[in-house]
Amino acid sequence: MRNAILLLTFFIVSIANAQIKGIEQRIDSVMSLMTLEEKVGQMIQVNGKFVITGPQMYDVDYEEQIKSGMVGSFLNAVGVDYTRDLQRIAVEETRLGIPLLFGFDVIHGWRTTSPVPIAESASWDMEVVENGARVAATEAAAAGQHWTFAPMVDIARDPRWGRIVEGAGEDPYLGSKIAAARVHGFQGDDLSATNTIAACAKHFAGYGAAEGGRDYNTADMSERTLRDIYLPPFKAAVDAGVQTFMTSLHELSGVPTAGNKFLLDQVLRKEWGFDGFVVSDHSALNEMINHGIVENQYDASVLSATAGCDMDMQSQAYFTHLKDAVQAGDVPIAKVNTSVRRILRIKFRMGLMDDPYLYCNKEREKNSMLTKEHLAIVRAAASKSCVLLKNENNILPISKKTKIIAVIGPLANAARDMNGSWRGQANNNDVVSLLAGIKNAVSSKTEILYHTGCGKKSDDKTVFQEALEMAKKADVVILAIGENGDQTGENRSKSNIGIPEIQIELAKEILKVNKNVATILFNGRPITMKWLADNMPSILEAWYPGTQGGNGVADVIFGDYNPSGKLPASFPIVVGQCPIYYNYKNTGRPIREGFKWQTKYLDVPNKPLYPFGYGLSYTSFEYSNLLVNKKEVHFKEELEVSVTLKNTGKYDGAEIVQLYVRDLFGSVTRPVKELKGFEKVMLKAGEEKVVTFKLTSDDLRFHNIDMDYVAEKGDFKVFVGGNSNDVIESEFKLIK
Ligand code: NOJ
Repeated sequence: MRNAILLLTFFIVSIANAQIKGIEQRIDSVMSLMTLEEKVGQMIQVNGKFVITGPQMYDVDYEEQIKSGMVGSFLNAVGVDYTRDLQRIAVEETRLGIPLLFGFDVIHGWRTTSPVPIAESASWDMEVVENGARVAATEAAAAGQHWTFAPMVDIARDPRWGRIVEGAGEDPYLGSKIAAARVHGFQGDDLSATNTIAACAKHFAGYGAAEGGRDYNTADMSERTLRDIYLPPFKAAVDAGVQTFMTSLHELSGVPTAGNKFLLDQVLRKEWGFDGFVVSDHSALNEMINHGIVENQYDASVLSATAGCDMDMQSQAYFTHLKDAVQAGDVPIAKVNTSVRRILRIKFRMGLMDDPYLYCNKEREKNSMLTKEHLAIVRAAASKSCVLLKNENNILPISKKTKIIAVIGPLANAARDMNGSWRGQANNNDVVSLLAGIKNAVSSKTEILYHTGCGKKSDDKTVFQEALEMAKKADVVILAIGENGDQTGENRSKSNIGIPEIQIELAKEILKVNKNVATILFNGRPITMKWLADNMPSILEAWYPGTQGGNGVADVIFGDYNPSGKLPASFPIVVGQCPIYYNYKNTGRPIREGFKWQTKYLDVPNKPLYPFGYGLSYTSFEYSNLLVNKKEVHFKEELEVSVTLKNTGKYDGAEIVQLYVRDLFGSVTRPVKELKGFEKVMLKAGEEKVVTFKLTSDDLRFHNIDMDYVAEKGDFKVFVGGNSNDVIESEFKLIK
C-alpha cells in the first residue's frame, strides 16, 4: 500500500515537474522569436474604454498599439464581447499572436457582491472569505477577466485612510490568514480553470501607513516595523501561491515603491522566491517625477525596470522609453528578459497560450451571474460579517411577531450604498436594501413603516417630524444610519470619521420618542460614534454588506443568525486618537493608576471605544481555566494553551476565541499583545468546550536587534478572550 502511495506521489510530482519544465521551455521558444520591441510590449498595460480608475494622461489608439505588439495587458476592459475583440487583434493581427491578459479591480465581487473586504474580515471566518473570492472569480472569469487586482493586503491602523475598507484591518496575523484565504478563493487549485482568476497582492508595501491617513501620502517607518507589521500578509499571499503583485502609489521611507529595488528585488524575489510578475499601480511610473526621484519619464522607466517592476500600468513610460533605455545600455536586456518571462509564465498558467479565448464564452457569461448559489453565499457572508456592538435590554433580535416596526434612516432603502466602494459590475437593481430584507423576513401581519428621516449628508430637518410620528407609533424602530457608500475607498480619506451630524440628531430625536431602537450602521471604516455608543441601547455594525445585504442583515436582526463577527480594526473614541491599534508598545511611561507621568491624552483615554477583536452575541460566553501544558517550553517543543469556553446564555451561537501573547523582554521592544491564533467555536446554549491552541517558537519570531527573524528566550504572557482587551492570562518561559 505504502509503495503504491509513494509511486503515485512520485508520478504526481514528476507530472508537475514536467509541466513546470514544459512551461519554462515553451517560454524559451516564444522568447527566442521575440524582438526587443515585442518584449517591451508584454510589459505594457493600457486602460480599456468604459471604466476609468486613475488619471488618464494621454489618448491611445488601442487597436494600433495592440497591432504593433505594444500591449501585453489591459485593465478595465469589460465583458466577453469587448475582450474577445481586443484578444482577436492581439492573436490574429500581431506577428507572434501572444494573447492579452485582462485585469480588473474585482475587489468584492463582479455582478454579485460580497460584503466589502473589511466587513468580510470581521467574520474571522476563512470559509466566508474564500467563498466570497470564489464567487467573484467565477463571475469575473465568465465575463472575460483573467486577473483581479486583489486582495489588498495592506495593514491599516488609521481609519482616516479610506482604503481601510479594502483590506483586512489592523492586524498582521489576521491579515495573513485572510490574504491566504482570498488568494486561494480567487485562484483555486487550477489557474487554467475557467472559474478562477489570477490574484494580485497589493499595494506593495506600507501603503496603509500613509501619514495622517491621507491617501497617496508618504509612509516612513523602520525596516523592523515594515517587516513585522506590514509585510506578513504579503508573504502569506506568496506562500498561498499569489501570481502577481502590485506596487503602490506612495513612497516608502524615501523611495516610491514602483522604483523600489529593496522591495521588488531584495524582499520579494531574493528572500521570498516569488516567481510571478509585478505590475505598477496606475500611472505610478510617471508619478515618480512628482515624487522627485526621477527627472523625466525616461528615467522613470529605467528606475522601475531595473528595480523589478515588470509591467507599467497605464503611464506609457515603458511604451515610450524602455526600448531606447535598453539600447542605450541604461536597462540591461537581462532585466527585460526576466520580466517578460514572468509575464508569459502567468499567461501560460492561465491557459491563454493554448486557448486565448478560454475566457470568452457568451453562454458562460450569461449563466454565471447572480446564481442561486452565489446569492446564498453572499447572504450568509453578510450575516456573518455583522458585529454586534451593544445590545442592552435585548432589543435584538426583534421578534418576527412584532406588530409595527418603523424602519427609519437614510441608509434604510439605499441599494447603491450597500456595495460600498469598488462595485465591480454590480447593478443597483440586484441589491436587496435593508428595508426590502426586513419586508422579506416578516409576515404580512407585521406592519412596516418606512421613512428616510433625513438626507445622508444634508442638514435639512424638515422631514424629521414625519419620521418621528412613525417612530412613536412603532413597537420598535430600526434606525439605519452611517456613511454613504462613496465615503470610503481610494482617494476618500477623511479627517472627521464620524457619521454626519444630521443623522446623529435624527437618532437623538427618535430616542426621545421610542426607547426601543436598534441602530444598524452602514460604513466602510471604523467610525467615531461616542454619542451612539453611550445612548443607543442596541447597535449592530453591518458595514456595506453587498448584493444580499438587506436579507443577510435581516437574518441577524430577527435572530435567524446569531451575530458572531468581531472587529478587525479598533474603533476610536475620537479621531485624535488615530492611528490606533491594539498591538502598541508599552513605552517607558505606560498608564499607571494615580501616577502623573504617563503616556496619555489629557482629554480622552488611550483605549478605543471598541477594541480590536470585539463583538457581542445574542448569547453570552464565559472563559475559564486557561492552562498551558508546560511552564517552560523548549524552542523545539510545542506549547498547548487550552481554555474552557461555555455558552452561558439562552441562544446557540458561535464565538471567535482569540489567543494573544506578549513577549515581556526582547532585544528590541515588543508589543503589549500580539494575536497568534483564533478559532470560531459553535456552542449550543449551556454547552461548554475546551479549546486548545498550539504554539511553537516559530509563532514567536520577530526581527530582533540584528534584524534576524527569530524568537528570543525569556518570559511570555499568554492571553485568551473574546476580544483583545477582555482576556484571561497565564504565562510561560521559552528556553533554549
Ligand atoms: C489605483 C489603485 O490604487 C489600485 O488599487 C487599482 O488596482 C488601480 N488603480 C487600477 O484600477
